[in-house]
Amino acid sequence: MPIKQLLVRETDSLDAALAQLDRNGFGLAFAVDPEGRLVGRLCAADIEACLARGGSLSLSVRAAMTPDAGALPLPESATAPRPPAGGQVVPLVDAERRPVDIATAGRPRRIPVAEPVLGGNELKYVTECITTNWISSQGTYVRRFEEMLGAMLGAGHVVSASNGTAALHLALLGYGIGAGDEVIVPDLTFAATINTVIHAGATPVIVDVDRRSWNIDPALVAAAITPRTRAIMPVHLYGQPADMDPLMALAEKHGLVVIEDAAEAIGARYKGRPCGTIGHAGTFSFFSNKVITTGEGGAVVLRDAEAAARARRMRDHGMDPAKRYWHNEVGYNYRLTNLQAAIGCAQLEQAAGFLTRKRAIAARYRKGLAGASGLAMAAQLDGFDNSYWMVSVIVDAERTGLPRDEIMQRLGEAGIDTRPLFYPLHDMPPYKPFAGNRAFPATVELSAQGFSLPSGVGLGDDEIDYICATLQRIVGARHLARRTKGA
Ligand SMILES: Cc1ncc(COP(=O)(O)O)c(C=O)c1O
Repeated sequence: MPIKQLLVRETDSLDAALAQLDRNGFGLAFAVDPEGRLVGRLCAADIEACLARGGSLSLSVRAAMTPDAGALPLPESATAPRPPAGGQVVPLVDAERRPVDIATAGRPRRIPVAEPVLGGNELKYVTECITTNWISSQGTYVRRFEEMLGAMLGAGHVVSASNGTAALHLALLGYGIGAGDEVIVPDLTFAATINTVIHAGATPVIVDVDRRSWNIDPALVAAAITPRTRAIMPVHLYGQPADMDPLMALAEKHGLVVIEDAAEAIGARYKGRPCGTIGHAGTFSFFSNKVITTGEGGAVVLRDAEAAARARRMRDHGMDPAKRYWHNEVGYNYRLTNLQAAIGCAQLEQAAGFLTRKRAIAARYRKGLAGASGLAMAAQLDGFDNSYWMVSVIVDAERTGLPRDEIMQRLGEAGIDTRPLFYPLHDMPPYKPFAGNRAFPATVELSAQGFSLPSGVGLGDDEIDYICATLQRIVGARHLARRTKGA
């Protein structure tokens, strides 16, 4: 962002300065004298304090600013000054003390929404694959990865796969779900959930989600069950568990299979049980933005040994395991490679630490965003132990005075990446036919209002503080601008 957008003249009116704070996405400005030299710092709280003292917006910036704001010299060499801590934004000044740029704790880099952390045995294990020539899906790491994942989940038969989409497809194939069957899926999810139902030749039936959990609404599932229904596919979105008890009760009553799409929810727990192990099958994704990654990769855990054996066969072209190159059915190549599994083993060694960090990141966001009117994180529901793959917020634009997209844009200008919640499936051309005449008000609302903040395990506390402070400033400046409009 050009530094000009962060500057106000000390002689400007507070009214003009407030408009600048509201526009620049930082909710903050630096005051300069007629020669352009730094003389102070101004944020919404300073203006609030001035108004509380009986001042008005027609007063000059000088009346409200914090004088002699701290500054850092412009770094000219590799011995740059350390960036400031926490959510601070500090001007970088030239020899004449003219602001030329800013430094923030979060701006040594652009803060990504997610990134892999590969600081354990990943390189060692992958090197071993290469030096021993075991780089395909043959090799000991694949089996080891499946065993480690099984031990972590404590239930079921684990079948690794080339990605989370393949894992979902294998779950459907494992339980023989296909042509003529209906599978109920939530409207708010990544497209892979519904795509795999279509790949299997079955018919997806889209239903709305529950506003509190953001996940499939069991009451709407009950209403969508027909004599053709074979399965329910709840998704544990962004790490928040779906409400599994009523879904399992419905499955029991109607003889249905429950396939949990836990692509985003490794480590999440529902009433003490790991997500992915409550239904008849559960699937995981190990794409590079997930909590545990293999670059690309996935796994399905199946309750039933026969279904697991079928999934294993279908992963390998449907080949008869007892008779090499003999095929009784048409399968796929959905195998994970030894190289990917090697990375996965190293990642699973760190899983407990990663998950602890994820929850700490969410807790720090919750604290840092407390009081930010109009921004709400996912609800903390009793017995729903969110693994916080993504920390997401819902924007109440009535209260923030800023629509979701504008907040995301301003965060982007401050070096903070975000991503919107998924689009409603029922709105997209290939999936419209599967919406029936059902309504999807919760998904429509959440999808339009929600976005995810940087949530990677590698995120520093300083960065979270910077993100919270930036968000607080963005909405704080807008609140004050709205409240004082015309004052
Ligand atoms: C809910 C959900 N299901 C399935 C998948 C598919 O996983 P993959 O990308 O590994 O194929 C994803 C991927 O992000 C997902 O978010």
